[in-house]
Order: sequence, then C-alpha cells, then structure tokens
Amino acid sequence: MSISKVYEKDELSGIRTKIAQLVDEYATLKYEPKEFVPEETFIPASGKFIDGAELGYMVEASLDGWLTSGRFNDQFEKKLAEFIGVKYAITVNSGSSANLIAFSTLTSSKLGDRSIRKGDEVIGVAAGFPTTVNPIIQFGAIPVFVDVDRHTHNIDPNKIEGAISPKTKAIMLAHSLGNPFNLDIVTKICKKYNLWLIEDCCDALGSKYKGKMCATFGDISTLSFYPAHHITMGEGGAVLTNSLELKEIAESFRDWGRDCYCPPGKENSCGRRFCQKMGGLPYGYDHKYMYSHLGYNLKITDMQAACGLAQLGKISSFIEKRKKNFNYLSQHLSSFEDILSLPKATHESDPSWFGFPITVNEESPVTRNDLTSYLEQNKIGTRLLFAGNLIHQPYMSGQNYRVSGELSNSDYVMNNTFWIGIHPALNEKMLSYVVEKFDLFLRANF
Ligand SMILES: Cc1ncc(COP(=O)(O)O)c(C=O)c1O
Repeated sequence: MSISKVYEKDELSGIRTKIAQLVDEYATLKYEPKEFVPEETFIPASGKFIDGAELGYMVEASLDGWLTSGRFNDQFEKKLAEFIGVKYAITVNSGSSANLIAFSTLTSSKLGDRSIRKGDEVIGVAAGFPTTVNPIIQFGAIPVFVDVDRHTHNIDPNKIEGAISPKTKAIMLAHSLGNPFNLDIVTKICKKYNLWLIEDCCDALGSKYKGKMCATFGDISTLSFYPAHHITMGEGGAVLTNSLELKEIAESFRDWGRDCYCPPGKENSCGRRFCQKMGGLPYGYDHKYMYSHLGYNLKITDMQAACGLAQLGKISSFIEKRKKNFNYLSQHLSSFEDILSLPKATHESDPSWFGFPITVNEESPVTRNDLTSYLEQNKIGTRLLFAGNLIHQPYMSGQNYRVSGELSNSDYVMNNTFWIGIHPALNEKMLSYVVEKFDLFLRANF
C-alpha cells in the first residue's frame, strides 16, 4: 500500500472519530431523560428506547457507504442466533416478511412429501395479528382456526387435535403478547401427526417455556423489530431455525428465489458457478442467475442492522424492565380483579411480556370501550389485541378458511380485551399514575 493511501486511511478514521464524538454529544442532549408530568406526558402502549449507541452504529454504517446487508448484519445475525440459542438467524425487513419467509420455506418442493401444497391446512388462531395468518392464504393453503383460552389469549391446546384433518401440514401460532402457548402439548401434537411448527415470536423475544427460550421449539420461528417490539431497527425481522436445509431455503425465498447463496459482494461461493444444469436452462448457465423458488427481495440495509446490533447489547436489561413493569401493574391492579381479568402467564412459562392485557369482565356495568376511552382521555395509550377475531375483519370476507368448533372466546377477546404498555421507556412514576387513573375510574363507576 502506498504512503498516500495510508495517510488517506488515517485521515478518514480521524474524521470518523470526530463524527462519533459529535453524535455522542448530540445523543446526550437529545435523549436526556424528560420529567414525567402527570396529565400532560403521554404514556404510550409501546415505544422504542434508543440512545447514542444506536445513533453511533447507524452513522458508522452509513459512513461505510456499503448500504445493503454487510458487516453489521453479519454480526447482528450471529449475536441474535447466540442469544436465542439457535444455529441460524437470517434478517428480513419486517416481522410480517419473517412470517412470509418462514411459511414459504415450508412450501419448497425441496422438502418432498412434507412440503405444504395449495389446499393443505394449517392450524392457527383467529385472535391475533393478521400477518401470522396471511401468508397461508396468500399461498393458497387453508388456515384452520381453533379457539383461544380466555386467560392466556393463546390457542386452547385441548382443541387442537379436533381440528386436524388428513390435509393438515403445519401449526402456525404466535405467543400472544409474549405469553408462551402450551409448547408441551403443541410440540407433542406436531410430533404425533408429523406437522411443522412455525413459532411467531414477534411479541415474545426472550420469553421462556420450561426454562427454554421461545423460538427454539419450532422448526422455524420469527421475530419483529418494528419500534413497538422488544428490540428495534426501525423496520425489520428475523427468521430462526436449527436446520441448515430450512435456512438455505429461507435465504433463497428472501433473496429473489435464487439458488445461489453467495453473500452480497461475493461470487462463486459454491465453486460451481458455471458447471451446473438446472430446470430447462442450458448447462453452465451462471448459477448466480438460477432461481429455484418463487422468491422475493426482503433483505435489510446495514444501517438497520447497525441499529439492531446496538439494541441487542441492551436486550437483557430491556427484558428485565418489561418484567418489572409487568409485575408492578399486576400487583397494583390486583384489587380490581372482580371487574377486570388480569393476565396470567402460561403454566411453567416465564414471559418477556409485550404488553399488559386486561379484560373487562362481561358482567361489569362498564364496557372495554368506556375504560379505554377514559384512559386515552387521560393520556394513557391503549391497544386492542390486534385484529380481535380475524374472521370478522373486512379483508377476510370471501377468503378460504375453516373454523374448527366455535370461536366464542376469540369473540370475547375481540369485545372485552385491550392492553397497555410495560415497555422499558416507562418508569414507576408513570405506572403509578396509570394505576391511580384505573382507581379513579373504577371507584367512580362501582
Ligand atoms: C404476533 C405478530 N406477528 C407479526 C407481526 C408483524 O410484525 P411487523 O410489524 O414487523 O411486520 C406483529 C406486529 O406487531 C405481531 O404482533
């Protein structure tokens, strides 16, 4: 390397150091903790927690000028897989994309008889987020809805076997608001009937069942990194698996459907770039342009990965804070349990809660909407349990799905349940204000 090149490199790194110092200074001022002002400060149901670490990494990634998935993404995928305890994590641009890729992976003809085909059935619930179910319909398979349990908002495990038909190929479920579904029963059923398990962990990063991390039970699992979630990169998600075969298929679906698995900027990783024959293509056609799946392009940029990497460094403290906030609300709202049903962790689970779900008992003289309107008027953000009962959503009219038994608990959740925030940006002063408002409202109405 010439002396002038070395000089240029040093100069560039000197400028980088100055920029990093300025970003740090900026972040200190921008993210200085603000005093909570009761009745004035809004308490959102979900929110991100970022500081100089995220800004610093994102600026570094942009100064690299690499733009597409690169060194930050490599580190993020490795560290995420280590944290969860799976062999492979691949990033995608949202939790919905993660579900799309996870499901599509199981439709690959490379899986032979086990691949999910059009018209096959996939068991799930209707009380949840639409994009846990949509990939099934988009592909032409049939979601089969089983009712949920009123207390955990998860699939009623005793109703699953009744929903199985000769066409059933998979179970695809989310851990509702971070509360694990009964993985003992679900994994036993999957084994007994040779079904795939897709674990949607978008709301459950860090949740454990019998001491084992969620996302390690399914054949393939998903995460979301939208700002509302446990960690964020703006928009983003990940697909997780222990199977090399599924990981390679998932990457193919994510990366245009290509057969080639070279990382961005690399060529001829397989060493057989110009000596293969596939489909009707001529022998030696460039492997880089051979497509084995009906794919997408759902990759992330390295700036997103940089943000995610900084967030991963904080994940344990985030999970602890969520649990602490959850326990605070559980303890302080317990005196209203004759009016409100409070969340219960699934037996033998340790949830990393996404939110604090509350159900206004049906016999109560006030409705869920009375309470949520009051809370919102008092600057306390509320959310419903996503789509409620999906089959009542406008877009589901005319779609091909099957209901197994009744969905009366899903309707109950749709009518009576909502959730409030416990995310790491909330502190005890805010939660104490939340409890005070519940107290005022419920005392005034009973
Ligand atoms: C259970 C569940 N699955 C999937 C998603 C979709 O994630 P994203 O918003 O990143 O597409 C969400 C979103 O909140 C979710 O709650």
